[in-house]
Amino acid sequence: MTQITIPRPDDWHLHLRDGEMLKAVAPQTAQHFARAIIMPNLVPPVVTGAQASAYRDRILAALPEGSTFEPLMVLYLTEDTDPKDVAAAHASGLVKAVKLYPAGATTNSNSGVRNFDNVRPVLEKMAEIGLPLCVHGEVTTHEVDIFDREATFIDTVLDPLRKATPGLRVVMEHITTKEGVDYVSAQGSDMGGTITTHHLIINRNHILVGGIKPHYYCLPVAKREIHRRALVEAATSGNPHFFLGTDSAPHTDDAKESPCGCAGCFTATNTMQLLAHVFDAEGKLNALTKFASENGPKFYGLPVNTNSLTLTKKSETATWPSKIASAAGPVTVFDPGFPVYWHIEN
Ligand code: NCD
Ligand code: ZN
Repeated sequence: MTQITIPRPDDWHLHLRDGEMLKAVAPQTAQHFARAIIMPNLVPPVVTGAQASAYRDRILAALPEGSTFEPLMVLYLTEDTDPKDVAAAHASGLVKAVKLYPAGATTNSNSGVRNFDNVRPVLEKMAEIGLPLCVHGEVTTHEVDIFDREATFIDTVLDPLRKATPGLRVVMEHITTKEGVDYVSAQGSDMGGTITTHHLIINRNHILVGGIKPHYYCLPVAKREIHRRALVEAATSGNPHFFLGTDSAPHTDDAKESPCGCAGCFTATNTMQLLAHVFDAEGKLNALTKFASENGPKFYGLPVNTNSLTLTKKSETATWPSKIASAAGPVTVFDPGFPVYWHIEN
C-alpha cells in the first residue's frame, strides 16, 4: 500500500505552553490534527474552570486564521481542587479530563498530588459524572530507579487508586513499558493508555550510546528495546485500549542542551509521517486509523472526525523543518534518525 486516508487524527496528550511558545507551536499541531487534549502544566498551572476557559481563548487566538482545531481542556489536579468547580467545568462542556501529576514527577509538577487522600472527593465526583482522569504514571520515590518508576506506579498507586474509586475512567498516559501495556490491556473499557510517537521509535540506547542526546530525553524516559517492541505491538494491534497521545513537549534548545536539560520531545510537526512509517514497517498500516483517529474519541465519548488526512509513500524522503522558530528561541523537531518516505497530502 502506498497511500492511506484516515479520519482526521486527534492528539490525546499535547503540551502547547503559553505566550510566544504557544504562538509558535499551536499551528504545527493544527496542521494535521482536529483536536487535542491540552496539558495544563503551565506556570502557574491551569487548576480552575475559569483558568481553563482563559487558556482556551489564548490557544484559539494563536491558531492560524480559519483553523478549525479544537483544544480539549484539562484541569490540573491539586490537593485544593474543588469538586464543584470540576463538575461545573465538565457540565459546561469546557473540560474533558483532569490531570494527575504525582508531585515532582516531571516538568512543572510541583503543584501535583502528594497525599492521595486529599483528592478523594474530586475523584469520586469524577467517577459519578464520567469525567476521565489522565495520569502521569511514575512514582517519585527517591529510592526507585528512574527506569522502574512506571512499573512501580502501577502496583503501588494506579491499581489501588482505581480499586478505591470504582467507575472512574482513567488514562495511563505515555506508557513506556511492557508492564504498562499488560496492565492497560487487562482492564475493562474504563481504562485507556496513550502511546507517544517517540516511544515507538527510540529505546534508551538512542539517548545514551555514542554521546548523550538531549532531544531524546523525555519523561517517562525511554526504556529497553523489549519495552519499545511491546509498545509497537500494542499501538499497531487495533486494541481499543490504546490511542495516540504524542506528548509533544516543546522546550527551547537552550533549555534542552544544558547541564540540566529539560524533559520533552517535540513531535507535533512530523508525528503523522513517523507513525505511517512505523505502522507500515510492521505491515499494519490499516491499524493507524484505530490508533490515531478512532480509539481516542471512543474512549472520550466524542465523535470520530468527519474530515480526513491522506498520507502517501513516495520515492523521495519526506522533509520537515529541523527547528521551529519561536520568539522564546528555537525548538528542535524530533529526528527519528532514519529516512521517512511518507508524505502528508492534505
Ligand atoms: C513534559 C513537559 O515538558 O511538560 N515533559 C516530558 O518529558 N514529557 C511533561 C510530561 O508530560 O511529563
Ligand atoms: Zn506530557
